[in-house]
Amino acid sequence: MTLIDRLPRLMLADRADASRQAAELLAHELITPHPVLGLATGSSVEAVYRELAAMVADSEPLRTGVDRAEAFALDEYLGLPDDDPHTYRATLRRQLAEPIGLPEERLHVPDPDSTVEPAGYDRAIAAAGGIGVQLLGIGANGHIGFNEPGAAFDSRTRVVDLTDRTRRDNARFFARPELVPTRAVTQGIGTILGARRLVVLAFGAAKADALAAALTGPIDPAVPASALRLHPDVVVLADRPAASAVLDLFEAGLDRL
Ligand code: GLP
Repeated sequence: MTLIDRLPRLMLADRADASRQAAELLAHELITPHPVLGLATGSSVEAVYRELAAMVADSEPLRTGVDRAEAFALDEYLGLPDDDPHTYRATLRRQLAEPIGLPEERLHVPDPDSTVEPAGYDRAIAAAGGIGVQLLGIGANGHIGFNEPGAAFDSRTRVVDLTDRTRRDNARFFARPELVPTRAVTQGIGTILGARRLVVLAFGAAKADALAAALTGPIDPAVPASALRLHPDVVVLADRPAASAVLDLFEAGLDRL
């Protein structure tokens, strides 16, 4: 297999189209006999959940799919009170589980109590039959989930420290920057790579360098998202600003592509 064969499919689309396409890929999973969804949180995926909720409302087969579906969150903050609306559990409940009618007991989130053995989450995913479609955003520093630069490609679900960059990037969701937690529990890169299909969303110029590094740079833990190229079934949906640095490289005709 040459390097070019390993390039993930990169589809250019505006945010609305990309979100619809990602929702369709999740809907495909919902009509399988044992649907298992992997759910990211963040700005990139919000419209995907709105689209999916609209599709489910319109379709009896999708509603029956939800009745047998399990969903696993990608990550969760540590140190927020249980009833804090910023937890990823609360966010996923609000943005997707409630709108589609997925009950709490089938919305799995890594335990924010760091005394619980995080690897149990990987076992729960395996017991559910593995994740069918894992939705992902990408951090401006190339992180996936909360796997920050340097995370091992075979890492499993575990507690991690957040970089200052990530805390700054996520401060927009909180009333004050110092309220952003300093730690999180995240599916590891190895856990993420275990999903049968990965669907990655990237919008806006702030993601351009990370996307270019992930798709065209060395496959190296310094850029966690470069691990995506080790997976055989990845779809990257990006708008033109996010894909701009990748497109520049193509246009320059660099033969390392
Ligand atoms: C966050 C989350 C990720 C998310 C990514 C991109 O920190 N931990 O799960 O996919 O970074 O976030 P956004 O879509 O808000 O840019």
